[in-house]
Amino acid sequence: MTHLENLIFETGEISLLTINRPKALNALNRQVIEEMTRTLRDVRDDQTIRVLIVTGAGERAFVAGADIAAMSEMSPIEGLEFSRLGHRLMQDIEDLPIPVIAAVNGFALGGGLELAMACDLIVAGENARFGQPEINLGLIPGFGGTQRLAHRVGQARARQLIMLGEMIDAKTACEWGLVNKVVSSNQLLAETRDLAAKLIAKSGFALRQAKAALRASFTMEEDAGLRFEQSAFGLTFSGADRIEGTKAFVEKREPKWQHR
Ligand code: HXC
Repeated sequence: MTHLENLIFETGEISLLTINRPKALNALNRQVIEEMTRTLRDVRDDQTIRVLIVTGAGERAFVAGADIAAMSEMSPIEGLEFSRLGHRLMQDIEDLPIPVIAAVNGFALGGGLELAMACDLIVAGENARFGQPEINLGLIPGFGGTQRLAHRVGQARARQLIMLGEMIDAKTACEWGLVNKVVSSNQLLAETRDLAAKLIAKSGFALRQAKAALRASFTMEEDAGLRFEQSAFGLTFSGADRIEGTKAFVEKREPKWQHR
């Protein structure tokens, strides 16, 4: 277990990254983002990690947004740099070859919702609240929310959250398709670990190709994305797991993955 100033990182096949600034409801300042970026580099380099879970310390918040006190002191150029720093973090999460799950306890607002949306799957405690309230600060989302939210929930709902700055509860977020699962708040980490265990039972190699192709639907025009899928699909044919997976089906047995 590594204790950074604002993070707790527990490494393992299922690794857990906890943003640990509960007094400020885990708000993201420059230092938190830099610590997360460094930790993600370690995750990427560690082949033994199969799934990463991201959560927030305490019961009240996953992340209540970017740090408003810090932003109130920023010059225009510092604001721009801060947005870029956050964007790179979100892209680093999306570029990780392994699945990342956000376990959302309490508030996921502004940069907190943007962080959750950079993850592959979102599990919410029933006390979770989601929103992009930047408009109420005279701001707009700056860590990718204007793009990723519409991708996840469609334009009408994205406009509702971003233009009105309203919050929605976990049940509504699930109905909107923003989160994958709502669980009782005191079972959040246990349920998220169960989901991670299901991912670990898959071929890591196939998951990597699936994640890359899903990402292409966000970064590429449809035609290029469809071609990307063909290449990624073709790549799975170079792996041992494709041979094992199809053979196991024919032989009516469980596959034994080599994750390559
Ligand atoms: C800094 C924050 C914070 C934030 C909460 N705190 N959110 N500090 N940045 N985003 C601090 C409070 O100042 C307070 O500190 C402590 O956490 C507890 O918060 P309270 O407000 O007392 O709690 P409560 O009354 O329960 O209200 C919870 C809340 C509210 C509804 C979540 O805190 C809130 O509205 N927070 C701001 C949410 C927000 O607007 N997020 C978007 C930020 S902009 P003290 O010291 O007083 O105890 C953004 C842009 C991203 O994310 C892109 C940037 C480029």
